[in-house]
Amino acid sequence: MIKTKLYFFTIGALAILLTSFQYSQDDSVKLRTVMKTIKSEADEVRKTLLEGKSKNFDYTYHKQILTANTRNKKASNPYFKTRAENYLQKLEKYNEAKDKKKSFNQLIDACISCHDYASKIYIGRIKKLYINE
Ligand code: HEC
Repeated sequence: MIKTKLYFFTIGALAILLTSFQYSQDDSVKLRTVMKTIKSEADEVRKTLLEGKSKNFDYTYHKQILTANTRNKKASNPYFKTRAENYLQKLEKYNEAKDKKKSFNQLIDACISCHDYASKIYIGRIKKLYINE
């Protein structure tokens, strides 16, 4: 009798553990997802600037590049963190800037600086974001 109770107790505890593990997995954002969102946000901001209007980035969202999950080995390296922090600084500057177009291009420099280190294949796509005028 006690053995049966213990058995069910163990199964129950395991089930709870497994579910909470799954939830904690679901909580973790993927760097790839963050990047896709950042890219489309940058497309939108660029379009707005070209129309002569002004639009800011969502800084809180971008901060996730410091914590998001990726299998990219270089992302666990301190050089990655330095580049991410530099990027976030440029983003803050952009949000506060008067000359948005210039600051926007400086932000794209920071995208490329990290990509040159960690993920070269996307550089071609990112370069198209530059505002040349
Ligand atoms: C601190 C480093 C860093 C910065 C800054 C950065 N990226 Fe990335 N980006 C990465 C890494 C690493 C990957 C690959 C992620 C992976 O494969 O898990 C990536 C992936 C991407 C992808 C591919 C997403 C996909 O799978 O479709 C795009 C597009 C992208 N970045 C655009 C940008 C743009 C635009 C900026 C600036 C506005 C930027 N990135 C800034 C490191 C960075």
